[in-house]
Parts: sequence; C-alpha cells; structure tokens
Amino acid sequence: YTKGNFLQIDILEKVNNFYKGELYKNNFALKYLKDRGLFDSTIEKFQLGYAPDSIKQFKFFKDANLNKKELISLGVLSENGEYPRLIERITFPIFSQSGKIIAFGGRTITNHPAKYINFTNTKIFNKSKTFYGFNFAREHILRKKEMIIVEGYMDVIMLHQAGVENAVATLGTALTPEHLPIIQKLKPKVIVAYDSDSAGINAALKASKLLYSKFFEGSVCLFPEGLDPADVVKRGEDLEKYFKETIPFDTFIIEYTIKKYDIKNPLQKKAAIDELREYIATLDEILKEDFALKASRYLQISPQKLTSKSKPHTQNIN
Ligand code: UTP
Ligand code: MN
Ligand code: MN
Ligand code: MN
Ligand code: MN
Repeated sequence: YTKGNFLQIDILEKVNNFYKGELYKNNFALKYLKDRGLFDSTIEKFQLGYAPDSIKQFKFFKDANLNKKELISLGVLSENGEYPRLIERITFPIFSQSGKIIAFGGRTITNHPAKYINFTNTKIFNKSKTFYGFNFAREHILRKKEMIIVEGYMDVIMLHQAGVENAVATLGTALTPEHLPIIQKLKPKVIVAYDSDSAGINAALKASKLLYSKFFEGSVCLFPEGLDPADVVKRGEDLEKYFKETIPFDTFIIEYTIKKYDIKNPLQKKAAIDELREYIATLDEILKEDFALKASRYLQISPQKLTSKSKPHTQNIN
C-alpha cells in the first residue's frame, strides 16, 4: 500500500472502533447476536459492531475529524456523501489477507428487505478477490490442507466458533476466477459448503464446475434441506459428519445436472446430455475423457455421445 492507503485503512479502523462501541450501547443488537448463538469471544474476534442512525454517525465522523471525501472513497458514505452506507445494522468488518479492515458488511436486525448490505468495490476492496475470514482461516487451511467455502458472514463466524477454523466465505457473489489464485497458493482440498437451498445448490454447481475445470481437487458438502452451516452449528449438530460425507466435484456436477431433468423422458434426457456436453466441451483434454466416461455411466449412453458435437433436435420425417 502507498502512504495514502495506510491513512485510509486507519480511517476504517476508526470507524470500526466507533461501531464496536455502539454495539455495547444497543441492547437490542447485542441480544440479536446472543440469540443467534454467538459467544462474547466470537463477537470480539470478528470485531462485530453496530452502525447506529445517520445522525450519530455524522456526529462521530465530525468529532473524529474524518474527511468526507475519504469516507466516500472508502465506501463508508454513499456516493453523494448524503448518508452512511450502513445504518442501523450489525457491522461485519471485512479484513484483507493480512488482517487490515478493507470494507464492511451490515445485517439488518429489523427485517429490512435488504438483509445484508456490503460495501461496493473501492480502491482497497475488490469483492470478487476477497474471501471473508481468510485472515483467520489461513493457518488452519495450511495445516489441514483443506479449505471450506461457505456463503456468508454468519456461516464463517459460527463455523469458527464451533472449531472449524478453515472456513471462508464468498460474500453474496459467486466464486470467481479471481478467487482462484488465493486458493492455489495454499494448495488445499476445497469443500464447497453452501446453503442447502436451491440458490445454494445452483451456486455450488457453478463453483464446482469452475474449480473442477481448473484442476482443483475437492467436493461439495450438503446439509439437511434448507439449512446453512450457521443453522447447523446453532442446532448443535455434529459437523464432522457432514464434512466427512462430501460429494466429489465431478460426481456432484453430473448428479445435480441430471437431477434437473426427468431423464426417463427422451427429450429431457437429450437436454441433460446437451447440458453436460456443453460443459465437457470447455474441459481440458485430460479431464474430458474421464468426466465423459463417468457421466456416460449415469446416462447409460456411450461416452462419445458426450464428447461429440451436439445434433440439433429435429424430427426426422423422411
Ligand atoms: P444468505 O441469504 O444465505 O444469508 O446470504 P442468510 O443465511 O439468510 O443470513 P442470516 O443467517 O439470516 O444472517 C449469504 C450471504 O450472501 C450475502 C451476505 O454476504 C450473506 O452473508 N448477501 C445475502 C448479501 O450480500 N445481500 C443479501 O441481501 C443477502
Ligand atoms: Mn437468506
Ligand atoms: Mn443463501
Ligand atoms: Mn444462508
Ligand atoms: Mn444463515
């Protein structure tokens, strides 16, 4: 970072200290976190806070002599500087790999329709290159040679609290190719542990496709229907059980692509074959053959049908 960025990070530290202090002034916010099952030590470790109303925030910015332009460029204030990005929300500081605050996310505790609001990208924060919790998880990922990727803040926090400290999150965005170099450096097996709802399964399918095609080894972890990792921890369930029984990326991609179709119906079977064929066409030669062979067994067709070009569906009337 340049000297300028040091100053900016310092501003976010100051804002965070303010938010942290506000949490202890707001019994409702504190109770919310306790009700979700967070320990005091967890709240401290992840430096959770509370962004109060706009008037209190502007008073703090003024008293602390924080520059308005800087606050805008760091994402604390809206583009026009008229309001703080996070108002009356629990705050989650987002840390860089070295543990400096680079942005915030905020969760409503009053059923606001936008459950979470994250900072938009800034000069020091790029969402598609950031794993939430990576600063805490790094050493555990290295030791276990395994990295768990979850959807959100609470999933990371609850898993760490339950002793699963090799978990990180992509923040409401998909896993992107830009995330991959961060994983590559540590060479772990990857476990995708998204929410077991349709959005989570679709996202897991996309993540698996990306990771598998780039030669990352790993698997997908599924929880009971509708639950996410934070829910499972809150229920006091044995997590090991779930993390031991994961589905390898290739198997998951095949099974969950096929599941979208009723393959007893020939038209739908063709659609499933087409979807798999399209993915297979993007794969490296080394993976192609292996993947096509596996998929062909599920569909009871020859592997060639999955590697050859698709024939358009037309009725042969001759
Ligand atoms: P989820 O929608 O799965 O969160 O989003 P959740 O499990 O319901 O939230 P809790 O447990 O009630 O608090 C997962 C992640 O996606 C991002 C956030 O990072 C969140 O942690 N997200 C979600 C947003 O950015 N905006 C949203 O409106 C919702
Ligand atoms: Mn949700
Ligand atoms: Mn979700
Ligand atoms: Mn969730
Ligand atoms: Mn949740």
